[in-house]
Amino acid sequence: MTAIERVFSGVQPTGNLHLGNYLGAIVNFVKLQDSYNCIYCVVDLHAITTWQDPAELTRNIREVTAAFIACGIDPKTHIVFNQSQVAEHAELAWVFNCVARLGWLNRMTQFKEKAGKDRENASVGLYAYPNLMAADILVYRATHVPVGEDQKQHLELSRDIAQKFNNDFADSIKAHTLDPVFFPLPEPLITGPATRVMSLRDGTKKMSKSDPSDYSRINLNDDAEAIAQKVRKAKTDPEPLPSEEKGLEHRPEADNLVGIYAALSGRTKADLLSEFGGGQFSNFKNGLVDLAVEKLGPIGAEMKKLAADPAYVDSVLIDGSDRARVIAAETMSAVKDIVGFIHKK
Ligand code: TYM
Repeated sequence: MTAIERVFSGVQPTGNLHLGNYLGAIVNFVKLQDSYNCIYCVVDLHAITTWQDPAELTRNIREVTAAFIACGIDPKTHIVFNQSQVAEHAELAWVFNCVARLGWLNRMTQFKEKAGKDRENASVGLYAYPNLMAADILVYRATHVPVGEDQKQHLELSRDIAQKFNNDFADSIKAHTLDPVFFPLPEPLITGPATRVMSLRDGTKKMSKSDPSDYSRINLNDDAEAIAQKVRKAKTDPEPLPSEEKGLEHRPEADNLVGIYAALSGRTKADLLSEFGGGQFSNFKNGLVDLAVEKLGPIGAEMKKLAADPAYVDSVLIDGSDRARVIAAETMSAVKDIVGFIHKK
């Protein structure tokens, strides 16, 4: 096996896909299709690290799949599937549980945030979650991983795990494969003007599925009315917009809205401020409403259509899983040789 350039990324089916997921991740997933072989995964095994109602989980898996397709991911040329259908993810994650060190996981800020004060009551899965994420990527020996800023630390851990595996098993890797380095060190792709989209209610907090206020985020399936209301109600400050980017410093809400506008329009922040600088927020917000409705409206409509055809969505996931499994099984077979397990070849 030789390493080819391959993109892998995942999104959790935990409800309410929002503008942060779209601009921070999915827009880049779509772009990368032109230059890479891409694998996009609905990470249902990750979702159950916190409680999910089973019927809702099923709906959410289909909804994320529909969002991928509606945003422009082509499941025929590339691979779209749900994680639990390819058992090799969990299998490699176990090997990585034995490679990663407790000290590494103890540094993960997302676990600390998600577990909160009641850490004793968090699931073991939530703690080991970054090892599964490393397995997702490395079971395909993926080289590039498009994500939002909040996943950077997990990506660094994936690189550490790949490197430790390559080092620990260096002799066995040489004996069993033609590659001197078995796992590539996956490179994070954190690009675009909206790698960290903030809450519309508080510019210092990340836009998130779990925020209790629906006004904090724009959901991918919000209708025009909801988008308009949320943008108009978005928190701002009393100053007019600045004419230059430097004027956005220490103004998190203004900076966030300009960043969203820039990302949706493909224009730079500087260019937008030369148009809107000095003016009132209401004018800028009207422009943002029109733009957001223009960009997200067709996605929401396509998602609705796909929601009415679950059999088609499921067939995409089954076909994608069948193709993913072929690649994953090849890696896992080599991993078994390298670690020293006996298995049927
Ligand atoms: P998840 O499901 O929380 O988010 C999916 C993607 O959306 C990005 N994102 C954001 N980007 C900008 N601003 C925001 N406010 C924002 N909120 C979310 C995330 O960075 C992510 O790219 N652990 C991952 C899923 C995962 C994965 C993987 C990703 C599992 N295995 C392997 C890459 C490779 C997660 O929980 O993402």
